[in-house]
Amino acid sequence: MSQAQPYFPGLDGVLAGETAISTIEGGLQYFGYAVRDLAEDASFEEVAYLLLHGNLPTEEQLADFEAVLIEASHVPAEVIDFMATIPLHVGEMDVLRTAVSALAHWDEDPTETSDITKAERLLGQIPILIAARYRQRQGFRVLRPQQDLSIAGNLLYLITGEEPSEFQEKAMNVSLILYAEHEFNASTFTARVVTSTKSDLYSAVVAAIAALKGPLHGGANEQVLRQLQQIDSLDEAENWFHQLMAKKGLLMGFGHRVYKEGDPRAVVLKDYCVRLAESSGNTRLEEIAECIERLARDKRGLYPNLDWPSARLYYYLGLDVDLYTPLFVASRVTGWCAHIIEQAAHNRLIRPRAKYIGKSDLTFEPLSERDQSE
Ligand code: CMC
Repeated sequence: MSQAQPYFPGLDGVLAGETAISTIEGGLQYFGYAVRDLAEDASFEEVAYLLLHGNLPTEEQLADFEAVLIEASHVPAEVIDFMATIPLHVGEMDVLRTAVSALAHWDEDPTETSDITKAERLLGQIPILIAARYRQRQGFRVLRPQQDLSIAGNLLYLITGEEPSEFQEKAMNVSLILYAEHEFNASTFTARVVTSTKSDLYSAVVAAIAALKGPLHGGANEQVLRQLQQIDSLDEAENWFHQLMAKKGLLMGFGHRVYKEGDPRAVVLKDYCVRLAESSGNTRLEEIAECIERLARDKRGLYPNLDWPSARLYYYLGLDVDLYTPLFVASRVTGWCAHIIEQAAHNRLIRPRAKYIGKSDLTFEPLSERDQSE
């Protein structure tokens, strides 16, 4: 390979494969449907069906799919008991990664990759794992899902123990739809790399969870709230922003590798934040967020990504910060599985080259003859 070959640090702008699942070009679309329309009118279950099957369901197909998900949500008691043995200081994302890995051991054929049944099972099981660990940590009883609630409604019910209002369920539904799929983002690409070696679906999902956890990716939604919590009042917001910028800190929930003038998903979700804040009678956080948005745009040309409103949305829904990235997993597992299945169906090992910047042609000296002074 010639060292003059084009090199794109961070694979910025590189087309690393083909997909029919989603595109960012001309507005985010899942299998050709504008995500804005899906967020407005579809349920997360319909979108999950779309991502896994490639088409929107009929009423009958959706009813069957929902029945399958309820059936699939059973988690072996051994896995729930095992989670309870993990030290309580271990965070939700770490336990979720371990628990998904453990689920593979109760699958009769964990090696099959291109199997929608496994994806459906994970989609049903992950909310149970997230809520079970949360409630174990709090010392609360682990709950069973309610058959008449959606995935969004059940996530809220299983975690908090309270049935959500219609609007709370809708807001969670929209956030799950917006988080579900996003082309070759870092965690999805990770899942495709693992799949390309002909490894199994569980391994690819576990690796994707590990990639999502990082604060430059999905872990950002937790960091957003932690940063917002450092600002006590609107009066402090401007000073806080300038101090962060002066020390070259990262403003979490802002910037994006692809969207340089704003993430359209963030615009959709912001509206739900405003409405939830208004209905709670406390809009202080929205006012602070608005101020930070204005400063980031005007002073640094930075725009919010989806993690910016998501963090506030989950806060308004009364959820602990530690749950925010796991909730991202509960949704993105659909996109990951769609990509895993697509990669397996048109596989070629993903194995790029590196630009070498190290030393060359050094003379090897046997151990006894090497300079021993260090
Ligand atoms: N705060 C402060 N400065 C920033 C930020 C930010 N959030 N984002 C970018 N910049 C700076 C960056 O440091 C660089 O400065 P310089 O030219 O002085 O080195 C300049 O803006 C251009 O950066 P870029 O090339 O546009 O950034 P990138 O494509 O390498 O990184 C990113 C994208 C998402 C990693 C980055 O914007 C970031 O770290 N954001 C904060 C973390 C975050 O919100 N992540 C969520 C990503 S989107 C949803 C998801 O995956 O969950």
